[in-house]
Amino acid sequence: MTKRYQPINPKCTHMLHGGDYNPDQWIRTPEIWDEDMRLMTLSGCNAMSVCIFSWSALEPAEGAFEFGWLDTIMDKLAANNAYAVMATPSGSKPAWMSRAYPEICRVKGDGVRQPHGSRHNHCRTSPVYREKCVIINTKLAERYKEHPALLLWHASNEYNGGDCQCDLCLAAFHNWLRVRYDNDLDKLNHAYWSSFWSHSFPDWDYIIPTDRGIHALMLDWERFKTHQTIDFFNAETAPLRAITPDIPVTTNFMPGSDTLDYGAFAKAVDVISWDSYPNWHEHSDEIGEAVTTARMHDQCRAMKGGKPFMLMESVPSIPTRGRVKKRKEPGMNLLSSLQAVAHGSDTVQYFQWRKSRGCMEKFHGAVVDHEGSENTREFKEVADVGAALAKLDDVVGTTMQPEVALIQDWENEWALREGARVYLGENIKYRQEMNAHYRPFWQAGVPVDVVDQTAELDAYKLVVVPMAYMLRPGFAARLKAYVENGGTAVMTYWSAVVDESDLCHLGGIPGDGLRELFGVWEEESQSYLPGESVGIAMAKDNALGISGPYTAVDTCSVIHAEGSTVLASYASEYVEGQPALTVKTHGKGKAYYIAARTDGAFLNDFYAALARDEGLACCLAADIPEGVSVQTRSDGDRDYIFVMNFNREAKSIELGSPYVDVLTDQAVGATVTLERYGVMVLRKP
Ligand code: GLA
Ligand code: ZN
Repeated sequence: MTKRYQPINPKCTHMLHGGDYNPDQWIRTPEIWDEDMRLMTLSGCNAMSVCIFSWSALEPAEGAFEFGWLDTIMDKLAANNAYAVMATPSGSKPAWMSRAYPEICRVKGDGVRQPHGSRHNHCRTSPVYREKCVIINTKLAERYKEHPALLLWHASNEYNGGDCQCDLCLAAFHNWLRVRYDNDLDKLNHAYWSSFWSHSFPDWDYIIPTDRGIHALMLDWERFKTHQTIDFFNAETAPLRAITPDIPVTTNFMPGSDTLDYGAFAKAVDVISWDSYPNWHEHSDEIGEAVTTARMHDQCRAMKGGKPFMLMESVPSIPTRGRVKKRKEPGMNLLSSLQAVAHGSDTVQYFQWRKSRGCMEKFHGAVVDHEGSENTREFKEVADVGAALAKLDDVVGTTMQPEVALIQDWENEWALREGARVYLGENIKYRQEMNAHYRPFWQAGVPVDVVDQTAELDAYKLVVVPMAYMLRPGFAARLKAYVENGGTAVMTYWSAVVDESDLCHLGGIPGDGLRELFGVWEEESQSYLPGESVGIAMAKDNALGISGPYTAVDTCSVIHAEGSTVLASYASEYVEGQPALTVKTHGKGKAYYIAARTDGAFLNDFYAALARDEGLACCLAADIPEGVSVQTRSDGDRDYIFVMNFNREAKSIELGSPYVDVLTDQAVGATVTLERYGVMVLRKP
């Protein structure tokens, strides 16, 4: 049963709209602050993220605090019917602190301490830094706990997994290892297979994370960094939770990055938020950019079981990323903003509200340009988003209940990077393969949860597991139980090769009991160069009813069918005649194994057949034009169907029954036409 969640903070029952706001850069010109308030109202902005990099304005010298400017801003926001998403300032440390306490600066693997500067680069272990964070965060919470504008805590900014190998961090790592290995060094040495190259560790403090040859050590170092980041987050947010228990806490994730396990981090925050920066218009496959973004939205919604998330940062026009810095074309800001909402975001926020006059981000897209007025295209397009969000109050708290799960797992990704690169070389392309398996569902308007290997699987009709090279403990058993209870699983080449220590499974792959579940033994795999391909021929009269022929690229595994049915075989190269696709049935359950990376139509046709068999369909129309996405949010009674055209040309869809477009309050005919980058939110009349 779909349900309706509470708003992020019940203080505000509207969609949030706003962005990173740095009034401390304009302390010398308070008239700009008044202008900001006027422009916020004009653009329909109601949520401003303050203090993200304000430490030197809040505490210009050790123990000397200045909150006057922030008091003024908070009062102005409240008077303007807007809210503050208040950050803790730990994302960037003040210069006096680095001078007084050098231990707060990170140390690189070569032992050299980084000089003060840049941002997001404090030591996560330093007790001094943690103490300083607790002091300033306590002051912020005490001062603003009753303030009507305080809506949400935004801890720090974009915590990352960057290395600090200072003595404090290494000692913390060694303690973490002792816990993980029950204080048993022999257990660690076995897990690390450290007799290889005579690398056995005689004591805990010999273990330093610089030896990329010990794959289990590199994996543990990644795990530790996630652990230590969450530990830091918990430490710095403890006063917020104690003093303002009703104010939710978030931190802006970067699911596009592979440096932290955000699936693990998700448990520590109250609401997921993330920073989305697609490079629109820079790819020959613009639709692919929409697909990548959609997958990450689905991941953020699924991290807390369907709870709406926040689009904490996006750019109204020109990002600092990208090769040639393309501006968003007209309409793209509304489309990409509502794409987030379509997948479960209850907010649209930007980096940044106003362009800074100097430094790194002075030209980065913003709601307010240096010109300063509401007359820019950027501002007007933000105001369009504001007007659209104002129509979507009823969507707040609604969610999605996908019946398809795509398993994307950070620990597995680390293992592919650290442990499998020696074996698989340049053809790993994990995220690219995620997109390939996600895209057929996106295109068909079938919603997907993107979850990691710790997810509960029972609620899904279909579980897709590409390239699960490393299995986390318990996943194989859950997948097995899921199929035996009637579920359908799809697994691909290179799965269940190693355990959580990157130790190869003995007895053939897929290991951990999955050889029997899928009825295949993957004996070897061959890699191919760009431009090379291998044919795939479907078996005559196969149960999927698809005919091909198809092509494989990058890699083909040689698999043996052991009690499974061969649905397709290779049609060329030395693998000719060997199985490429199999299925093994377990009562009502089915376990499909795809032995190769495919190109072109195969995954579309394959998943269309599975969707037909499982009764998975788009709620709107059978035929959705390519590049048009349909996503539905619901509270169980009423559906809100977002229809989004990512094409540069208009597209039409046959709806079959009458709808109303919530954005315009207009009835929609039997055929709707979406303009280039057009978007509609449909509901039944
Ligand atoms: C990140 C940061 C912001 C800003 C933007 C620029 O997302 O969180 O502070 O630097 O990038 O795109
Ligand atoms: Zn450190």
